Amino acid sequence: MTDIHAKISLTGGVDFWHTPAIEDAGLPEVMLTDGPHGVRKQSAASDHVGINDSVPATCFPPAVGLASSWNAELLDAVGVALGEECRALGVGVLLGPGMNIKRNPLCGRNFEYFAEDPLVAGELASALVRGIQSQGIGTSVKHFAANNQETDRMRRDSQIDERTLREVYLRGFAKVVTSARPWTIMCSYNKVNGTYASENHFLLTEVLRGDWGFDGFVMSDWGAVHDRVKALKAGLDLEMPAHTAHEEAVRAALAAGDIDEATIEQAYARVERILRLAVASLEDAPDSFDVDGHHALARRTAEQCIVLLSNDGVLPLARETRVAVVGEFARTPRYQGAGSSRVNPTRLDNALDAITALVGHEVAFAPGFVTAPGQELAASAHDDAVAIARDADVVLAFLGLGESHESEGYDRDTCDLPAEQLALLEDILAVNANVVVVLSNGSSVLVPFADRVRAVVEGWLLGQAGGPAIADVLYGVVNPSGKITETIPHRLEDVPSFLHFPGDVSGVRYGEGLFVGYRGYDAAGTAVAFPFGHGLSYTTFGYSDLTVSSGDAGLAVALTVTNTGDRAGREVVQAYVSVPDSKVVRVPRELKGFATVTLEPGESRRVDIAVPAEELGYWSVIDHAWVVESGSYTVEVGSSSRDLRVSASAEVVGNEPVRPLTLESTVAEAMAVPGFDAALAPMMTVFGEDPDLIRMMESMPLAALVGFSGQSEDVFQPLLDELNAAQR
Ligand code: BGC
Repeated sequence: MTDIHAKISLTGGVDFWHTPAIEDAGLPEVMLTDGPHGVRKQSAASDHVGINDSVPATCFPPAVGLASSWNAELLDAVGVALGEECRALGVGVLLGPGMNIKRNPLCGRNFEYFAEDPLVAGELASALVRGIQSQGIGTSVKHFAANNQETDRMRRDSQIDERTLREVYLRGFAKVVTSARPWTIMCSYNKVNGTYASENHFLLTEVLRGDWGFDGFVMSDWGAVHDRVKALKAGLDLEMPAHTAHEEAVRAALAAGDIDEATIEQAYARVERILRLAVASLEDAPDSFDVDGHHALARRTAEQCIVLLSNDGVLPLARETRVAVVGEFARTPRYQGAGSSRVNPTRLDNALDAITALVGHEVAFAPGFVTAPGQELAASAHDDAVAIARDADVVLAFLGLGESHESEGYDRDTCDLPAEQLALLEDILAVNANVVVVLSNGSSVLVPFADRVRAVVEGWLLGQAGGPAIADVLYGVVNPSGKITETIPHRLEDVPSFLHFPGDVSGVRYGEGLFVGYRGYDAAGTAVAFPFGHGLSYTTFGYSDLTVSSGDAGLAVALTVTNTGDRAGREVVQAYVSVPDSKVVRVPRELKGFATVTLEPGESRRVDIAVPAEELGYWSVIDHAWVVESGSYTVEVGSSSRDLRVSASAEVVGNEPVRPLTLESTVAEAMAVPGFDAALAPMMTVFGEDPDLIRMMESMPLAALVGFSGQSEDVFQPLLDELNAAQR
């Protein structure tokens, strides 16, 4: 029998990365570590901000890259490899994936998140979780919830209305929890609607366990607990890292009767059950992993993460094209983000070497500009870059953000590329119009030069094997197929959350509500540089023969996709749904399903996309529940959110509750219900026949109509009750 004091010790870590051993329960210490796109196992000094080293592990593309592949199968495979590395390194739980919504491109940690859309984020995070957990290693889906910025992240209050919270910020988490069953969830640092996430009973107990049936344990982000007693009562199970004073406070609270044993027992049982799973899979684990195989997987993955934003036909390059490569990023890649997720890669390949190998000889190269603080370049660096550009057929300009520009812990203050890079690009364009820009960045940058250069390749952060993947795309060895999961705006001021980000000490109001990312740009009709879901290929695809049928399970969407070009390629097919006659506020269209298809030239394939019924619901703040409206739903399918090729409609039978009318119901609402029109007709006569007056009356509550027509509410209420009863 494990004594309650031993059980209390399992509600917190024993050090930075381990849970304590519980000797009389025969439970050893278990290591939990970052993540998410590689294993960051520290064996010497510990930290959670990326300062000290960790043992070598494969650095896969971070979520910003992975997401652009839209390829759940691929993410599952990456997850399997991550799980294998965890086993080999003795790690029981990998701290990730992170899946907060990209609410604003300035968020310093967007590179660790998947999308501005909860469906893509939810589907892809689920795939990664499934892959990792298939190896008997736990995941910790983070940061729950509404941690959409780094500014003041440890105390800022995210103030979000109920519907937006459910439909945008919790929806992806709900998908992962219900479909992939992560072993653990990590709560965020911030407050949500006034209460720290670590003490938030609504989030940790009512929603996570009550609504979604989560059966793992909740751990804190590192240092997110302010009061372990309050946190345990709210539904947190494990505080990380160790905090002796907080542990003592739990013992004191137990003695004083401020927390009951059952609450501690419950947290202990949840943590113990999961840790035993990890212990079992670590028992007979191998002590090495397939370094070469995983590097090859990292490269295959990176190939699908690269997005060709624009191309006038200059790409793919012929090997005999005389290129000049400009920008240190080509030689010293920016391949992952800064902070707790920093992985020590097993090797690191760059694009310059890969280009050299592909063309079979040295190519002209100039670093051009500084990419990291403290870097020393010759005074002539700028001019040297312009000089090699002048002599080339095509200039490959590797631009991007340095590590210090975007990081966990702070947000960017501009969406622009550094001024010296933009100045260099201008000077290059003045001597050579044939410029291809290759970007390395963890979150959108503005691309005001996009229509003055011949192609833009968005390379995001691609992990340790991204360099050769970029070279393969530039030379057509690989046909690009990634699509962006965050809109690239023309101006920062156009971003829907612009006026409400990052808030101040009084909190951050999610004032744009449901209108996050493409939902907002589309509603306002704002022109953007590149829309959500966009990405080109070296081939072209045709869309035809869309059918949509509706049934109890939801919508069954099917269409034919044809490769109409002359090389094999992969297309990400996206299905957006709108409800034109909705009675509630709606965004113009929402992504409700997607599929990827790889086709040979001329080949056609039928593509099926299922939209489950629950995806069609909106969160009703009247019923505090998901409600599917009855009526016509439009499905538009295409190659991006603004390149919709085919559309069709279907009638959906919803589940709207019949709500009895009250004196607060409007005249229009009442007139829409059979039986009420006749009952109200006599009262309407006071306003005569004037159609404008009648229109004005439609928004009048019944109580007001009753008053104006000289009747009393006491007399009208029984009539209302009678008419309501007839509706049941
Ligand atoms: C980060 C988490 C990370 C933890 C441990 C925190 O600062 O927010 O994502 O898992 O540190 O390194």
